Amino acid sequence: MRKVAVIGAGQMGSGIAQTVAQHGIQIMLSDIDLAVAEKAKDGIEKSLGKLVGRGKIEIADAESALSRITPIGENAPMAEADLIIEAATEQEHIKKAIFEAAGKVLRDDAIMASNTSSIPITRMANFAPDPARFIGLHFFNPVPVMGLIEVIPGLATAQNTTDQITAFAESLGKEVVLSQDEPGFVVNRILLPMINEAIFVLGQSTANIEDIDKGCRLGLNHPMGPLQLADFVGLDTCFEIIKVLYDTTGDSKYRPAPLLVKYVEAGWLGRKTGRGFYDYSGEAPVPTR
Ligand code: 3HC
Repeated sequence: MRKVAVIGAGQMGSGIAQTVAQHGIQIMLSDIDLAVAEKAKDGIEKSLGKLVGRGKIEIADAESALSRITPIGENAPMAEADLIIEAATEQEHIKKAIFEAAGKVLRDDAIMASNTSSIPITRMANFAPDPARFIGLHFFNPVPVMGLIEVIPGLATAQNTTDQITAFAESLGKEVVLSQDEPGFVVNRILLPMINEAIFVLGQSTANIEDIDKGCRLGLNHPMGPLQLADFVGLDTCFEIIKVLYDTTGDSKYRPAPLLVKYVEAGWLGRKTGRGFYDYSGEAPVPTR
């Protein structure tokens, strides 16, 4: 891949753009308007600056990575992309509109991928110009740090598409897990029931936020407890994923915890809104219950 376009300049899209650019590939970063994509590039500059400050990368490498990122506010330039990665919000109607619009400029030899956390690839492939060149490419947050990418071919995905995307993911220095197109794929199928259960545990007052997270950090050696991780992922995203698991399987073990629903309804979505299970307004996060 020489040129890649990323649609959606939020937490995941920015992390993907940074990682791809750090691996010598030209990136077009797009969002609903140019200003949003430009702001995301400023965020990537800060993130690269931190890595320079900590002696992790050379200043020249940070500068050249940044120079490879072009914010865009329209689809036309994506005609040059070998790969378009959709990393928009986890709502199918939004993704559908993106695939249809970007599909109009997708070259005949280019691939379209979705960073969806859980929406079926086979179903979304119908919104793309060619289901044989459509695939799931699931990154983990924070993308520059996490060592895994899931590759999810849909029913109609061509083997050649899977091979090219696997090689691309490995060229970013990541390990690949190949998953069948089943709800939640591999990792979120396991992670989200754990996060959801932690919210049930909190809702039933079995323990407070601090102790639930401490239990998993120290008892399971997880870097973050499940409630802190839920805030990190975004409670809206957690809700959307567990809802997909519930709706597609009909299995009651995936029913969303009532407290998760309430937090989403309150707009307490985690780190990105300054409040979730923790309050992020001060220097260090403070548990809210
Ligand atoms: N860019 C580049 N490097 C970064 C970074 C970023 N955005 N954020 C952190 N780092 C690096 C730091 O430079 C540091 O590197 P070093 O060890 O070589 O010095 C290392 O990561 C650790 O960072 P910090 O010391 O600042 O902080 P922590 O030690 O607390 O680690 C964490 C932060 C890496 C986020 C760690 O807490 C962690 O691994 N948490 C769990 C993350 C996780 O589970 N992610 C998956 C979520 S699920 C998902 O994404 C799927 C989706 O579909 C829902």
